[in-house]
Amino acid sequence: MESLSFPVINMEKLNGGERAATMEKIQDACENWGFFELVNHGIPIEELDTLERKTKEHYKKCMEQRFKELVASRALEGVQTEIKDMDWESTFFVRHLPESNINEISDLDDEYRRVMKEFASKLEKLAEELLDLLCENLGLEKGYLKKTFYGSKGPTFGTKVSNYPPCPKPDLIKGLRAHTDAGGVILLFQDDKVSGLQLLKDGQWIDVPPMRHSIVVNLGDQIEVISNGKYKSVEHRVVTQTDGNGRMSIASFYNPGSDAVIYPAPAVLEKEAEEKKQVYPKFVFEDYMKLYAGLKFQAKEPRFEAMKAVETAV
Ligand SMILES: [Fe+2]
Repeated sequence: MESLSFPVINMEKLNGGERAATMEKIQDACENWGFFELVNHGIPIEELDTLERKTKEHYKKCMEQRFKELVASRALEGVQTEIKDMDWESTFFVRHLPESNINEISDLDDEYRRVMKEFASKLEKLAEELLDLLCENLGLEKGYLKKTFYGSKGPTFGTKVSNYPPCPKPDLIKGLRAHTDAGGVILLFQDDKVSGLQLLKDGQWIDVPPMRHSIVVNLGDQIEVISNGKYKSVEHRVVTQTDGNGRMSIASFYNPGSDAVIYPAPAVLEKEAEEKKQVYPKFVFEDYMKLYAGLKFQAKEPRFEAMKAVETAV
């Protein structure tokens, strides 16, 4: 049986004698997990600490009361049957690219805005570096994924800030119901103490272990399409805890631009056996997102099929 230890990639090792072994570890993670955890990724730990502190402060100050009112209004504390139409999470979203909306989010203080912007610009570079590592492993020319995601206005990049407060009924309400991510690559800075994120591997839910100052990466549906299924977007969910302070999660999505055209990379297809050629559809990214909006919590395969059915000469 295959080892169940979650893949951890030490990025410093990409610059020395262990580069080949590290690239292989990334390849294995992309093929068999859809997830891995990055350490020594170059984002200063003081910045991560400030971001975590500001996020927790902001939740207490601006979000907690609102969340409690929502829970009360839906009488969620006393539910007896599984809740399938909502998640036990408190969130807000900041867009960075193609243009930032951070100044329009009213209840962020100056320090929080500053650290979020700084973090986002470093994370954007890390995402692009990662895309090139994937290119190298997939046998694609450097810059291929970045170029594919670019469309006419550049990629979309944004951050979903979530808190998962303690929940009295973790078996009946998920922090976030199971889904795969629609986009490109997702970079997650998560609470280093409170676990909750789980991925589905070989039919079993496995914890993504909290690790201080690491960045968790997972692959979205678009990477699955471009790699023609060599890499998979993997189902994941968040389970809540009954006590403690709750869990913080800062997930950033590096996605194709709305008019980017997504299709299996010809260089990947060339190497495929005849019967596996063109397994995945070709489409404009925003059409996929329109479909995803209504079907997020369902399996991805029917989404790919639906895109295939409407496939035109894009
Ligand atoms: Fe997700």
